[in-house]
Amino acid sequence: MSYNDRFIRACRKENVDRLPVWYMRQAGRYDPDYRKIKEKYSLLEICKQPELAAEVTMMPVRKLGVDAAILYSDIMNPVASIGIDFDIVQNIGPVIHNPIRSAADVDRLRPIDVEGDLSHVIETIRILDRELEVPLITFAGAPFTIASYLIEGRPSKNYLRTKEMMYSEPKLWHQLMDKLGDMVIAYLRAHIAAGGKAFQLFDSWVGALAPKDFEQFVLPTIERIFSELSDLEQPKIYFPGVSSAELLPTLKNVQADVVGLDWRVSIAEGRRRVGEQFAVQGNLDPTVLTAPIEVIESYARSIIDEGLEKPGFIFNLGHGLFPEASLEKLKLLTEYIHRYSADAISK
Ligand code: CP3
Repeated sequence: MSYNDRFIRACRKENVDRLPVWYMRQAGRYDPDYRKIKEKYSLLEICKQPELAAEVTMMPVRKLGVDAAILYSDIMNPVASIGIDFDIVQNIGPVIHNPIRSAADVDRLRPIDVEGDLSHVIETIRILDRELEVPLITFAGAPFTIASYLIEGRPSKNYLRTKEMMYSEPKLWHQLMDKLGDMVIAYLRAHIAAGGKAFQLFDSWVGALAPKDFEQFVLPTIERIFSELSDLEQPKIYFPGVSSAELLPTLKNVQADVVGLDWRVSIAEGRRRVGEQFAVQGNLDPTVLTAPIEVIESYARSIIDEGLEKPGFIFNLGHGLFPEASLEKLKLLTEYIHRYSADAISK
């Protein structure tokens, strides 16, 4: 099989013979083989074994026929290297043992040491660079989303303590954003040097902010991250997470190639809001995957029809797959997206 570069071409708004597709959280508990591995090892234990982490990354590529792989890791992994002690607890998510609450806590965060503390991640990327016949997407969590875990100590609904720091101690907040921004830049640069072919910055929870707070407290760091990495030719994706439709018009100076959309905005409207310079990625509501396949296909069809209106579209979900998703339906959906878009493009 020859190398499949449809995903990279679509990120660059070049023509493709069919739409590329991958799914956020495509390596996961919907797959019985993954669940078997998880009976033996935790997420962090898998990540520390590069051969196994590479294998888990490749499983959905083989099983689903997707056009890109996403590194098996977690947004929390790099924070171990800056001095944060955490676990990823099944059905909860990241739990931090030493949350950040004060100036002294921010002060004690160290610079990231990728080669020293995260060599297993780099080794996994090197293995995948040799093995894969589709592009490898690597990723990092964005500063707001990471900060929300570091400050709250666990997943949160209202981000009360996070916003308390933002509103009450803006100087401290900006110091934290700066430190996390530096961490992200060094980490993503090391991914690309090891063989990553694109990266996605996950800002899963930043949609909790009003646009003017986003612009004041978060956007400068997002702009800095993409600007400092703009010498890299590999495509760069910013995913502003769930409920981010109102933030889209503020992204115009972000030097990313692609913006990820959630399902609360249509592809056409999302494109209009972010502006012509970006390719877009999204945005099937992952809960639609619980429906019969005909219903899933009809939702996919309307996304594809809008996606094909302009070059620069990558099919994805609006957020991560649930463990309840079905492997069979995901295979059928992937085939359908390829077939339907190839037909539409050839007409
Ligand atoms: O397949 C892939 O997408 C690659 C692997 C990946 C994981 N986490 C592995 C994982 C990616 C891209 C992430 C990113 C991530 N992690 C995000 C951003 C994406 C998003 O969903 O918005 C966030 C917010 C996290 C933090 C996190 N880690 C949460 C909220 C959870 C869920 C907890 C649970 O048990 O439901 C995790 C754990 C996690 N990370 C799992 C996986 C496959 C599930 C648990 C497991 O299999 O052990």
